[in-house]
Amino acid sequence: MAVQDVWNRLRQFDAYPKTLEDFRVKTFGGAAVTIVSSIIMITLFISELNFYLTKEVIPELYVDATRGEKLKINMEIVFPKMACAYLSIDAMDISGEQQLDVDHNIFKRRIDKTGTPISEAEKEELGKKEEEESEKKEEDQKEEKKEVLDPNRCESCYGAETADLKCCNDCEAVQEAYRRKGWAFSDPSNIEQCKREGFAEKMQSQKEEGCEVFGYLEVNKVAGNFHFAPGKSFQQHHVHVHDLQPYSGGKFNMTHHVKTLSFGMEYPGMENPLDNTKIIDVKGSSMFQYFVKIVPTTYTKLDQSITRTNQYSVTKHEKQVTTSFSTGEHGLPGVFVLYELSPLMVKFKEVNRSFMHFLTGVCAIIGGVFTVAGLIDSMIYHSAKAIQKKIELGKAL
Ligand SMILES: *[C@@H]1O[C@H](CO)[C@@H](O)[C@H](O)[C@H]1NC(C)=O
Repeated sequence: MAVQDVWNRLRQFDAYPKTLEDFRVKTFGGAAVTIVSSIIMITLFISELNFYLTKEVIPELYVDATRGEKLKINMEIVFPKMACAYLSIDAMDISGEQQLDVDHNIFKRRIDKTGTPISEAEKEELGKKEEEESEKKEEDQKEEKKEVLDPNRCESCYGAETADLKCCNDCEAVQEAYRRKGWAFSDPSNIEQCKREGFAEKMQSQKEEGCEVFGYLEVNKVAGNFHFAPGKSFQQHHVHVHDLQPYSGGKFNMTHHVKTLSFGMEYPGMENPLDNTKIIDVKGSSMFQYFVKIVPTTYTKLDQSITRTNQYSVTKHEKQVTTSFSTGEHGLPGVFVLYELSPLMVKFKEVNRSFMHFLTGVCAIIGGVFTVAGLIDSMIYHSAKAIQKKIELGKAL
């Protein structure tokens, strides 16, 4: 008896009192509303599920306390109007010292007017000549001219001899000796070695070509710059100078196409603002400066693997350089990338989305659509009934 009583009490709490089946009517309007609302519900559910399955990336900001890391600079830049023989690449850090000892892997490849490669990629030495290359050239020259040069010969360096460089047996050696002295290498036509090697002709023959530069550079993680400029570079009274004279006699077209420039490894969603930019040197002999701010970034994936890399932002400055050569007083034609490190670092962390949020979302979709559909259905039903009544009334009159 008491159990029955409790049961009856409990029934009072039912928020969903049922009507008897017999009093329910199924209408066409109701069916249409049901179908439409089911479709809406399924679509919303799928989009909610998709959202739940994506990962959330949370950014956090820290002061960068990492020390002693290296900065890897990846690049692929095409100079369609600058021959490889003219172009030199240098890297310097904030102290202004040339980074001759940086670990690098930069290659240059000659390309023709249409952009097709016409030579094997050659490794570029930063601010240094490549020994193998010059030896090879020497051999080529010997074959061509059938001129037998004494391998033990010692030719003049035209006054630029130093203790460890007493002999200049080819044009590059003379250039190198001049460079060490800080002299301008001005007139290759007076230098026997260069005449023999056809230095001027080589420069001339490559005039129509372009150059593709690619590879990476590993530098100390301090501010610095690297640049691509015509002419060999050398240090003169602690000033970085480019020797343009043997290459003069025309404007330099510094048009360049940056295919990629990034500082470190890639992470999902990384954006490099300079990728795929084409810059045309309209006036000729222009100086392009890119001021790059590097933001150290770490990206932690769900499986806790960490990628240490960098993002960057860039501003560009362009000016035409008066073609007074050698000292670089008025600037130097070329592409200069000046980078600086931000003291703040960004940490990205991937996390799973909350299952409770997903559940709440799903309930909201089902409940919401169901309620709205119910309202629409009853509206249709009642208005249809009212219209029917009016028609019947009209007939009766
Ligand atoms: C440099 O080359 C580009 C592309 O080939 C061309 O559009 C531009 O006019 C050239 N500039 C000069 C000064 O010749």
